[in-house]
Amino acid sequence: MRIIILGAVAGGGLPQWNCGCGNCAAARAGRIASMTQSSIAVSADGETWAVVNASPDIRAQMAATPALHPTGARQSPLRSVLVTNGDIDHVAGLLTLREKQQFDLFATDAIQQVLAANPVFAALDPALVTRRTVALEEPFELASGLTATLFAVPGKVPLYLEGDEVDTGLVGETTVGVELTAGGRRALHIPGCADLPGWLTDRIAGADLLLFDGTLWADDEMIRAGLGAKTGRRMGHLPVGNGDGSLERLAKVPTGRRVYVHINNSNPLCDPSSAEAAQVRAAGWQIGRDGMEISL
Ligand code: MLT
Ligand code: MN
Ligand code: ZN
Repeated sequence: MRIIILGAVAGGGLPQWNCGCGNCAAARAGRIASMTQSSIAVSADGETWAVVNASPDIRAQMAATPALHPTGARQSPLRSVLVTNGDIDHVAGLLTLREKQQFDLFATDAIQQVLAANPVFAALDPALVTRRTVALEEPFELASGLTATLFAVPGKVPLYLEGDEVDTGLVGETTVGVELTAGGRRALHIPGCADLPGWLTDRIAGADLLLFDGTLWADDEMIRAGLGAKTGRRMGHLPVGNGDGSLERLAKVPTGRRVYVHINNSNPLCDPSSAEAAQVRAAGWQIGRDGMEISL
């Protein structure tokens, strides 16, 4: 199995257009790497590829990734797109994929309903783009030789569908993780996750690769930096650090490689020279970056 991180950071990207935080300023100045929004590409045979989450940056991500370049006049190695929630950073790129290209679009029924309710996605010609609804816990072929299984993780509805009351611990079809298997290897991609209950750490245990939600370092980092009013947990993201985050909660859960992805531009992990970056590396994690390729 080959996995390429197309975009390692969270909604907004690095730098984010309207953000003057330290990391965004450093990225503009070239002191740290600019990075694009949350997406990975996966293949079992190296020839046919699936993209998990279609970010608003997908055009640039595909241009930067030779494995996804066209192989003929109107021939793409892309066989399918899977989306793990309805968030803008995971679905807006579908609009870029409208150029009369055949592929399968996989999602749970709840996420397919969100897409179906938005007429702009009719730009994906239904004669070419087949929307495939998949049930939780039912394995399906995502690309040649590559099996995927969706599983519920704690999360919430997309920001643009939030009502007055928001349940940030929803466990159902609105926020899912994906288990990818090929050649006896097992990878888990969980770009958004609000909590780590025991049933989820049980599932994570033994994975050859874990790509996990690294949105914020500290629950209140956006508030403290004057970037917003919400905590990470309110946004549906368990923080990484500060003692009770995923770093601590996953410390005793055995896995192969473990990589933080969906890293928000406010997170000190965006800067490889930060103390927090050194701390996660010392704990056996890698910090995702655009173009990182992992072979299992
Ligand atoms: C998130 O991951 O929390 C969302 O991408 C936020 C957003 O939609 O801007
Ligand atoms: Mn996001
Ligand atoms: Zn910023």
